[in-house]
Amino acid sequence: MALFITFEGIEGSGKSTQMELLKRHMEGRGMEVLALREPGGTRLGERVRSILLNSSEEPVDPWAELFLYEACRAQLVSLVIRPSLEAGTTVICDRFTDSTLAYQGYGRGLDLEAVDRANVLAAGGLKPDITVLIDCEAEEGLRRAWSRIGSKEGGAREDRFEREDVSFHRRVRDGYLRIAGAEPDRVKVVDGGGEISTIHREICYIIKKAGA
Ligand code: TMP
Repeated sequence: MALFITFEGIEGSGKSTQMELLKRHMEGRGMEVLALREPGGTRLGERVRSILLNSSEEPVDPWAELFLYEACRAQLVSLVIRPSLEAGTTVICDRFTDSTLAYQGYGRGLDLEAVDRANVLAAGGLKPDITVLIDCEAEEGLRRAWSRIGSKEGGAREDRFEREDVSFHRRVRDGYLRIAGAEPDRVKVVDGGGEISTIHREICYIIKKAGA
């Protein structure tokens, strides 16, 4: 069965590394897997991503930010995710609706119900079958994100969220844990503090139990 799997976590949680490892693991078992990221995955999505993450010309209103993420999502779901799932391809997505609830809802302080409604509308009601939340403390995640930025060749590049202070990232992390608490069957929390290989094994076990 084609599954829709999402990865969530704060900056520096290690989710992108784990997502890549899971993709290779599943492909090694002969499964067809498509890896995507949000915002992104379509031409429109990639263009809006660079506006969202790099623009510093003027402050971005939180509602404007919300709707830009939702616009990318609507495009990705209808052009890529739904057709792939219907064709029997498993889709793994780096971030989805839980990111919006965690960042724009808990982080920015927008009304949670309104964010949830916008999520449902943009995703056309599509929900992940399973979500892996890689949990780590805000300080640790930011430390890792910053050291990654510092080591990039050609000078440091940061995005708007990496410039937010630690209290913002704490709210986002707490938001994620609340989401996981409210939907324990779908959202599986993995401790991001362990070894990469240990975390990978745990994720493989979670995905196997979910029916992949
Ligand atoms: P990342 O994919 O490299 O983690 O960057 C995406 C950034 O966008 C990250 O800081 C989280 C943020 N984001 C939101 O604020 N809301 C959303 O709905 C999504 C998908 C991402």
